[in-house]
Amino acid sequence: MLSVRCCDMYKNIRAAVVGSINMDIVLNMEKVPDVGENVLGTNYGYACGGKGANQATGLARLGAQTKMIGKVADDANGRRLLENLKKNGIDFSGVATNGTQTGLAAIIIDGEGRNRIVVYEGANAEIDPDEAADCIDENLDLLLVQFETREEVVIKCVNRAIEKGITTVIDCGPAKNFALEEMQGATIISPNESETKALTGISPDDGDSILKASEILKKRSKAQFVVLKLGERGCSVYDGESLKIMPTYKTNVVDTTAAGDSFTAALALEYKRSGDIFAACDMGNKAGAIAVSRMGADASMPTVEDVEKFR
Ligand code: RIB
Repeated sequence: MLSVRCCDMYKNIRAAVVGSINMDIVLNMEKVPDVGENVLGTNYGYACGGKGANQATGLARLGAQTKMIGKVADDANGRRLLENLKKNGIDFSGVATNGTQTGLAAIIIDGEGRNRIVVYEGANAEIDPDEAADCIDENLDLLLVQFETREEVVIKCVNRAIEKGITTVIDCGPAKNFALEEMQGATIISPNESETKALTGISPDDGDSILKASEILKKRSKAQFVVLKLGERGCSVYDGESLKIMPTYKTNVVDTTAAGDSFTAALALEYKRSGDIFAACDMGNKAGAIAVSRMGADASMPTVEDVEKFR
C-alpha cells in the first residue's frame, strides 16, 4: 500500500511535454455525414486540446510539476490556450508565441462517443528543434512526446532526454510511419491500434498480431517497454521477453477524445514513481476509462483523487 497521501504521489516528479497545443472545435451528432450528406448536430463547443497540451494537463492534474514546450501564435486562440495551461498550473515558459497561426482541430463525435479529427498544425509545425531540445536538462525526471509536431523536433528532444538519462515516453499519435530508428532506447513507446498499424503494418487484433507488432516496435525503437493502447480491450506490455495483456475498466463512453493522452500521462507518471510497468499500465487504464466517460479533451483528464475514487 502507498504510504504517501494519494494526491501527493507524483508531486516530486519534474515532467515536461514537447508537443502540440490546439484549439479544438467539437461538434456532436448522432451519425457522422457520408460524402455529400448534411446532418444536424446536437451540440458544439470549443475546448483546449492538442495531444501535447492534453498530456501536460494530464500530468499536472495528477500532481506532477509540469512544463510545456511548444508553440502558439499571438492570436485569440493562442492566448486562451496559454491561459488554460496557466490555470492548470503548468509552466509554459517553454511555449513560444511567435507562430503564424495557433493549431486547430475540428472534431466530430458520433452518438457512440467515437471521434474523427482533422488537425491544422499551424504553429505546432513551426517549433524550432534546437530551442525545444534546449529546454530539456538535468532538472527534468520525465519527458513525454507525441508525433503531432515535426519529426525533427521529436527526434532531437527524445535523443537529448535519453543522453541526459531522463525517463522518456513516446506516445505515437497521430498515426504515421515515423523514423523510430532515429531515436533508440526510450523508456516506453506507446501507440494505439491505428498507430501500431501505421508503424508496423500489423493490426493488433489478437494475441499473435499484438506480439508480432510489439516485437517489430521493440526492434525498431529499442525502447525498454512497448505498451500498445488497445481501446476497450485495455493495453498490452512487451519487454522483449514476454507479453501481457491488461484489460481495462468498464465505463459509460461519452467521448473518446484524449483518452490516449490521459492514458499516456498516467502511465508515464506511475512508471516514473514506482518503476513497475504493470502498475503503470493499470494507472493508465484507469485514467483512460475516466477520460472516455467525460466530454472534452484536456477537460476530461482525471486527478489522483478521481482515480482513487474510481477503484
Ligand atoms: O488526442 C486528442 C487531440 O488530438 C485533440 O485534443 C486534438 O487537438 C488533436 O490534436
